[in-house]
Amino acid sequence: MRNITLVGFMGTGKTTAGRILARRLGYRFIDVDEEIEREQGVSISHIFSELGETYFRMLERDFIKALSFKEGLIISAGGGAVIDERNIEAMKTGGVIVCLTAAPDAIMKRVGNSANRPLLKVPDPMSRITELMGAREQFYRKADFTIDTTAMTPGDVAEEIIRLAAGKI
Ligand code: S3P
Repeated sequence: MRNITLVGFMGTGKTTAGRILARRLGYRFIDVDEEIEREQGVSISHIFSELGETYFRMLERDFIKALSFKEGLIISAGGGAVIDERNIEAMKTGGVIVCLTAAPDAIMKRVGNSANRPLLKVPDPMSRITELMGAREQFYRKADFTIDTTAMTPGDVAEEIIRLAAGKI
């Protein structure tokens, strides 16, 4: 059983849809950010503010690489993981990559004021969302499939992933 890695911007529903997907397929669900928090014993916000984003990216890369050698996983990767080519390669080695997208105003409603999204802790999170999304678009395009979740429920997203990935996992 090959893995399915969910990538995409913050607030596109990777974790929520991923949990449902794992349950429906009988796969194990892994959220990379949660694993990092558990291993480090501190929050992602704390890692960003005290140790820096570069350090966080290193931890993220190590986890993604280790997961690529395992099987039967639904992996939710953090929104910035795609920027590092090594992560994309590891995700492809492990299986299929599905990118979830959503309109910026939907993202803003879902996570714009979230305390645990350090990159959005700025005076104008909406501008930051559109700016980061634009800069990352080219990386998100490297996924095998893309699903716009703006008007979908997490259950619908899980079903769509099953349909798209059928025969490839
Ligand atoms: C980040 C997204 C977050 C988390 C960290 C950085 C990003 O994950 O990894 O705050 O660079 O977009 P989610 O996409 O799960 O919110």
